[in-house]
Amino acid sequence: MAMTWLITGANRGIGLEMARQLRERGDVVVGTARDPGDAEALEAVAERVIKLDVSSEASIEWAAMELGEMPLDALVNNAGSPPVKGSITELDLAEFEAAMAIHALGPLRVTRAVLPNLRRGSGKLIVTISSELGSNEIAQGSLYYGYKMGKAAANMFTSTLGTDLKSEGFTCLAMHPGWVSTRMGGEQAPVTPEESVSAMLKALGGLGPGDSGSFVDRFGEGLAY
Ligand SMILES: NC(=O)c1ccc[n+]([C@@H]2O[C@H](COP(=O)([O-])OP(=O)(O)OC[C@H]3O[C@@H](n4cnc5c(N)ncnc54)[C@H](OP(=O)(O)O)[C@@H]3O)[C@@H](O)[C@H]2O)c1
Repeated sequence: MAMTWLITGANRGIGLEMARQLRERGDVVVGTARDPGDAEALEAVAERVIKLDVSSEASIEWAAMELGEMPLDALVNNAGSPPVKGSITELDLAEFEAAMAIHALGPLRVTRAVLPNLRRGSGKLIVTISSELGSNEIAQGSLYYGYKMGKAAANMFTSTLGTDLKSEGFTCLAMHPGWVSTRMGGEQAPVTPEESVSAMLKALGGLGPGDSGSFVDRFGEGLAY
């Protein structure tokens, strides 16, 4: 049966490719963009495009109002900003706070706002696109405070949410897409958006409530938090 997905930051990169592949297989996509006026590629594949800045509570409230009572089967918290390198003394605190607002708070705020829609749907799937850089075990040795701390918080959010929504049958996952050749990943990245997304969608097909709360790679294999 066709599923209805809400994907944040879907105007380019991994989000746009996910919207494309889902549409191709017959699912319905509601995509969000900070600037819907500049989201032609998304317009071409999405049922609806909604304006959303995941770092703004007001924007999230507006987007939830736009959705109204529309049932959603799946949410993909995909929106993200690139890592910024710097030592503790070089750190720009405003930039750090912006990264935390997007990566740490964004998935929590968006999920909370659209939970009534997800409860009306039958898919009961919440995926947060995270990163190995958010894993304490894997990401040692790099100086990306905001991104790493934000993704680590997103991972903990997923694990806590998995416990919280367990009795309702939700599957909540944090997923590392690989190093992907998007604007964020750069041209030298070895994995194309097409490969990353097709692997993630295949893996999601094999994961269920028993896996909820876990952090996995694009193939669905467990990663250390
Ligand atoms: N590429 C990689 O190698 C890689 C690796 C690990 C994890 N990830 C994660 O994968 C996700 C997608 O990244 P990507 O590689 O596709 O990057 P991308 O091509 O740079 O796309 C990022 C998307 O997020 C949106 N965005 C940024 N800030 C936002 C905000 N405050 N509110 C709403 N949307 C916002 C961007 O919108 P605008 O066009 O308006 O800027 C864009 O649509 C991110 O969460 C990223 O951290 C990527």
